[in-house]
Amino acid sequence: MEPAKEEESRRQKLLHPGKSLYQALLDSVILCNDSVKLQIINEKNKVPLLVEIFAIEGNIFRLKINEVSPLKSRYEVPDVLIKEPTTHRLSIAQKEGDILVLTCAGDDRKLHITANPFQIELESKGEAILSVNTNGLLYFEHLQPPPQNSKTTAQKKKDTSTDSSQENQEDLGLWQEKFGRFLDIKANGPSSIGLDFSLHGCQHVYGIPEHAETLLLKNTSDDDAYRLFNLDVYGHKIHDKMGIYGSVPFLLAHKPNRTSGIFWMNSSETLVEINTKAVMEHVLSKSPPDITKQRVVPQTDVRWMSEGGIIDVFLLLGPTPFDIFKQYAQLTGTQALPPLFSLGYHQCRWNYEDEQDVKAVDAGFNEHDIPYDVIWLDIEHTEGKRYFTWDKKKFQHPKRMQKLLKRKKRKLVVIIDPHIKVDPVYTLYSQAKKKGYFVKDRKGQDFEGICWPGSSSYLDFTNPEVREWYADQFAFKSYKGSTDILFVWNDMNEPSVFKGAELTMQRDAVHHGNWEHREVHNLYGFYQQMATAEGLIRRSRGQKRPFVLTRSFFAGSQKYGAVWTGDNVAKWSYLKISIPMLLTISIAGISFCGADVGGFIGDPEPELLVRWYQAGAYQPFFRGHANIKSKRREPWLFGDENTRIIREAIRERYTLLPYLYSLFYRAHTTAEPVMRPLWVEFPEEQETFGVEDEYMLGNALLVHPVIEQEATTVNVLLPGSDEVWYDFRRFRRLDYPGTLKIPVTLESIPVFQRGGSVVPLKTTVGRSTEWMTDISYELRVALDSKDFAIGELYLDDGHSFQYLHKKQFLHRKFTFHKNVFSSSCADEIGQYRTKCVVERVLILGVQKQPTSVTASLQGKRDGKDKDVVFTYDAKTSTLTLEKLLLNVGADWEIHIK
Ligand code: NOJ
Repeated sequence: MEPAKEEESRRQKLLHPGKSLYQALLDSVILCNDSVKLQIINEKNKVPLLVEIFAIEGNIFRLKINEVSPLKSRYEVPDVLIKEPTTHRLSIAQKEGDILVLTCAGDDRKLHITANPFQIELESKGEAILSVNTNGLLYFEHLQPPPQNSKTTAQKKKDTSTDSSQENQEDLGLWQEKFGRFLDIKANGPSSIGLDFSLHGCQHVYGIPEHAETLLLKNTSDDDAYRLFNLDVYGHKIHDKMGIYGSVPFLLAHKPNRTSGIFWMNSSETLVEINTKAVMEHVLSKSPPDITKQRVVPQTDVRWMSEGGIIDVFLLLGPTPFDIFKQYAQLTGTQALPPLFSLGYHQCRWNYEDEQDVKAVDAGFNEHDIPYDVIWLDIEHTEGKRYFTWDKKKFQHPKRMQKLLKRKKRKLVVIIDPHIKVDPVYTLYSQAKKKGYFVKDRKGQDFEGICWPGSSSYLDFTNPEVREWYADQFAFKSYKGSTDILFVWNDMNEPSVFKGAELTMQRDAVHHGNWEHREVHNLYGFYQQMATAEGLIRRSRGQKRPFVLTRSFFAGSQKYGAVWTGDNVAKWSYLKISIPMLLTISIAGISFCGADVGGFIGDPEPELLVRWYQAGAYQPFFRGHANIKSKRREPWLFGDENTRIIREAIRERYTLLPYLYSLFYRAHTTAEPVMRPLWVEFPEEQETFGVEDEYMLGNALLVHPVIEQEATTVNVLLPGSDEVWYDFRRFRRLDYPGTLKIPVTLESIPVFQRGGSVVPLKTTVGRSTEWMTDISYELRVALDSKDFAIGELYLDDGHSFQYLHKKQFLHRKFTFHKNVFSSSCADEIGQYRTKCVVERVLILGVQKQPTSVTASLQGKRDGKDKDVVFTYDAKTSTLTLEKLLLNVGADWEIHIK
């Protein structure tokens, strides 16, 4: 692939750390109701900029920097914030010489503004958290009129009278830039922006997906910044900071007592440089008084550079990791609650050939007693890659096929890409063309590029009218052959343009509102998924939750569905990297994420496939997928033994669904990531900060997938000095936290339950999630060192919005305390009728055999104690209570004596 020249960043890099060229004009400060405004001026070009500072409710600051009077409006990212943030009033606490101190009504946040050079420092409870422009890297290219007699570089080269400084400017790509054979004409000329931040005391930073890189962000060297620029990279490299399919410009910094975050809301190409270093700090010692001591402390400097737009950055002050997740979700929204079926197993390949093939694969799952929920159809199911159509020969009766799947209580997902085949008799194309709904080239013609169907135009999803129209295409009467079990997969939406520079759209293509593609590039996929999700909701008249998987994403994509990590390779190294990649996406707000199980490109050896299924079973989105050139790999094609082990992994996933669904409810309501790095749960434990070969699923399960070939042991870190851990399958108590060498066989999935938790499970599995509605529950109680445990269960109908509109849900709380295990209501508002019962309770870590166990229903007239059948295993200290038949929605208590 032709690498981009990134002239913007080359220009910015001419600015080196040092004294900033910007000075704040403290006399210009205006205190408004919602913000403080002031001007800063560049001492060289004298162009003033307007700085706006907002103190947002919930420990967030927002900093906006724009030109005071730009030649024309600059792009400000719309539609990503879920609402205009609520602000607190800032007031001046101190103004002395060069320094202005602002305080925030109602809390202890302070903001110090230094005039010369212009800098801002954020302080909370007397602690300096983060400073802005410390390295003087604030950079702002103000819009300028195009040079007179603008000529092409070629013309200029011929023209001997061209002055050399101007030619230099051309070289730096101010008004045009060459990418190989592509010429990018910049209608607005240079417009790049940049700023640096220093995170005090921090040496661990995370986030800014999507890169095939480690969980901990690395220091960047000169040509090696993290790039955020959505691209279709087939078989992308590993340990590379180039941007791949999605971008979330959100970075988290962590130190033992505080997590903070920087959300850089900009959708143009962005580079992030990171430099963790040791700095000298001066502290005023108290004994003996007034002696200044020096100590070395870590600091991470982060420099952001974007091709266009304005500086619009949110500084999140935590202090806990979960506060950060909430603060970020307060801005961009939480994870949409997925329909339950989508948490089951998905079977995909490019391609399932025809209706017969679909039928056979579907039957194969029954035959081999493997649960699954969804079969997927890739691009070949369409009539010549015309989305919303069916290949007339291979899929002659799409409704019949869906009827069969529906009878089996299963679903279908079909692919719908954003490029539209240029074909006047293809209604979708001709309509969109007539309505002017395609992205334009710089000359005002419909942009045409090559993709799967050949010559294609690209819907302009940034236009709300196009999104409306597109959403309507999913109506059953418009989308012929679709039924209510059909859901959607949006692919190639970076957007992918074969033969385009870097395989994407020309940056000088033009969108709605006359914005150049360069401004909105990273938002394109976000908007397609938004419109698709809206379409699926609309076709059900607002009744059903959508499921939409997207490859390209941006900040806020969590509101519209799931993402996957694109075209990985069937190699161990890709299985390994999938864990930090998914963790990074998760902490950037997108909980519903997964990687292609098996590896998309190539053919996994059976051992790798087995290990990938085992890992995928404990990750949020669980889909097997394979390239068109890969051999068939349905789970039963690798011999009886491998089939058995894969079956076990998938069945484990299905028994785990109550826990997983409850975690998604928490992600949806309180923004807690489903899959989380260890440090999030153990923020004080330094040894967890770099761990990326294991993770927490919720707060109760620690998962360490086997990712090494022919592994016979794994080294598992069980963190927390006073934690107790249990083997999730053998119930053995592991009293000594630390790194343990755990023996493994091909069957092992090392999973550990944290003492103090209760994990709800199903007692058995069905052929799909819908078959499992009435299957009883098992509660897995793991006692901590104080013989205490707590957990919860969320349940609802699994597919509608009634949980939201009619409060039809159950949210139960389970507590083990002083030998009483009780079920109570966690949320009084919810109501949901179910006959489902808790049949079995396993209590891990019970020190001695009880003499009696009784259960009683609370608040019932016949609420007498009933004897409970129990067994005690002294070897593992496990107490098993069976045949309980306690309604899952009722309040009850179990007494152990
Ligand atoms: C690229 C996607 O990443 C892959 O999953 C899909 O199978 C192909 N496009 C064909 O649609």
